[in-house]
Amino acid sequence: MNDVPKDRIKVALLGCGVVGSQVVRLLREDAEELAARVGAPVELAGIAVRRPQRHRDVPADLLTTDAAGLVARPDVDVVVELMGGLEPARDLLLDALKAGRSVVSANKALLAEEGEALATAARDSGADLYYEASVAGAIPLLRPIQQSLAGDRIRRVAGIVNGTTNFILSAMESTGAGYADALEEAGRLGYAEADPTADVDGYDAASKAAILASLAFHTRVTASDVHREGIREVTAADIASARSLGCTVKLLAICEQVPGGNGAAGDVVSARVYPAMIPKSHPLASVSGAFNAVFVEADAAGPLMFYGQGAGGPQTASAVLGDLVAAARNKVIGGRGPRDTAYAHLPIQPIGEVRTRYHVNVDVHDRAGVLAAVASVFAEHGVSIATVKQEGGREAADSGPGDDEDHGGGRGTDATLVVVTHEAPDAALRATVDALSGLESVRGVASVLRVEGLGRPVHALGGAQ
Ligand SMILES: NC(=O)c1ccc[n+]([C@@H]2O[C@H](COP(=O)([O-])OP(=O)(O)OC[C@H]3O[C@@H](n4cnc5c(N)ncnc54)[C@H](OP(=O)(O)O)[C@@H]3O)[C@@H](O)[C@H]2O)c1
Repeated sequence: MNDVPKDRIKVALLGCGVVGSQVVRLLREDAEELAARVGAPVELAGIAVRRPQRHRDVPADLLTTDAAGLVARPDVDVVVELMGGLEPARDLLLDALKAGRSVVSANKALLAEEGEALATAARDSGADLYYEASVAGAIPLLRPIQQSLAGDRIRRVAGIVNGTTNFILSAMESTGAGYADALEEAGRLGYAEADPTADVDGYDAASKAAILASLAFHTRVTASDVHREGIREVTAADIASARSLGCTVKLLAICEQVPGGNGAAGDVVSARVYPAMIPKSHPLASVSGAFNAVFVEADAAGPLMFYGQGAGGPQTASAVLGDLVAAARNKVIGGRGPRDTAYAHLPIQPIGEVRTRYHVNVDVHDRAGVLAAVASVFAEHGVSIATVKQEGGREAADSGPGDDEDHGGGRGTDATLVVVTHEAPDAALRATVDALSGLESVRGVASVLRVEGLGRPVHALGGAQ
């Protein structure tokens, strides 16, 4: 079915919201151009929505609430899914692919969860499966990873892939606002949904990390394989601490192929999402507001950076149209695009084995011996300290871990020890924090933030990485 060349391409559009309505607009406005690029006219066969009465700007005869019926129509060549959510999108796309219809989707949650099933269905029927718009909106990223870098070996993909959280963290940085105020501002300006959970708790970024890791390392990574922490706990004080160290705080999605630890043979994949300090000298540090940027490091190509608008109707529609043109061209010439290659079967590295540097604020009673007690807890757990700084208390002082002056005498006033570590496994740092909380001279561990150099030395933090 797929190999019979077509003289016109019929598209079933599932969803006509923020992105879908822009796809409809571009298909209409640029019909002639698109026909010339594809080699045949690209026409809408129908548009499935839930509430047709809300779509008065779309020809009524195209609208339907029967998405399954639309997908099953024999004249449909390509199904473009822009409805979101796992179901019914999953069943609809599997049905489409099994019937040999090519699929274009922007649905990161679905691709991260069901990428393998969808890719298998596409391979079995010879259909195309494209999903450029699912990660980083308008930015051409998946195709460069999958095709342009197909002959190279990618080691790391790291970036800012969620505009809402980047807007919030940028606002905290530029105005000194706390998390709640910055979130409210993001909502008011349309950068955060009424329910921001998927963004601020890192679910959206984790889905994108799963897709990126799968493509970059030719393996299968699902959203549940991705270690995920959101930005709710990031405070104005964390942002200020970062600034004083020449860093900024970003929600990062990091995917790496690294040698296995604990005696594991071969490489493993680490995929993780969390807020982290990065040096202001890193290109990702200057990515602010709702923009996205992804840093790719490959053996031969070296570092590459992809930057642009990661969301928005027209922006995301641009990526969808790019996929649609590719799928339509293949239908016209009777061919098919490149397949996902998930041959590597790499194990997932547990978060406890992931090595990073840490910035830890420890609230203490400022009195004799406290610095030595805190330093020895780090040492006992194998976490090497790069610098310690005391803030507050009777006097603030920069000091090394062995320098243990009596700043307060007796019970002392309250102070904060700002500790920056060398690289250590996450499990060791967690154990250190638990043990610190049990020290009589420690009032509490106020914050723990990872410090990611992303291939660059973090000079301001002291010590080698
Ligand atoms: N918005 C962005 O900037 C952006 C960026 C990148 C990726 N994406 C992805 O693109 C997809 C679409 O996002 P969006 O922002 O355009 O969503 P949206 O504005 O909420 O639109 C969803 C559309 O799907 C329709 N729909 C939902 N469930 C349906 C069902 N069961 N049957 C038929 N139609 C159904 C809705 O119909 P009604 O209008 O009748 O309710 C609506 O037209 C999502 O997967 C999203 O993650 C979005």
